[in-house]
Amino acid sequence: MMPVIRFGVSLEKELLEALDGFVEENLFVNRSQAIRHLISNGLAESKWQCNNEVAGSLTMIYHHHRRGLVAQLTRLQHERNNLILSSVHLHLDRGQCMELLAVRGRAAELTALADKLRSVKGVRYARLTMARLAGGEHHDET
Ligand code: NI
Repeated sequence: MMPVIRFGVSLEKELLEALDGFVEENLFVNRSQAIRHLISNGLAESKWQCNNEVAGSLTMIYHHHRRGLVAQLTRLQHERNNLILSSVHLHLDRGQCMELLAVRGRAAELTALADKLRSVKGVRYARLTMARLAGGEHHDET
């Protein structure tokens, strides 16, 4: 078993309350377990995998009324169309849209695309999930 190291963490009160809420909602036994979960999930999708070929999904929620937003999202997606396999647009209510993009490419490129889309004013949420692709062309078992 890996040795466990204790260390101190300083957090704003608000963030600590949010962490406690997260612990409770997800039925973690304590803060340490929740923090372990958050760190390993975060790192799995970060710079560690920058050069790896990955496939994943990008979920966005935005207010389509916002001036210029739709045009900007469309332009960004056309610029990186080599990374986008498919997209689905759902009209959630009168003002909000959800867009799901199936993506594939280098992790760093996908992360950059997600960061750009997230930074568009009016985008409330943009989350990228990625899974590393295993080597080999086929997955036949023969
Ligand atoms: Ni819509």
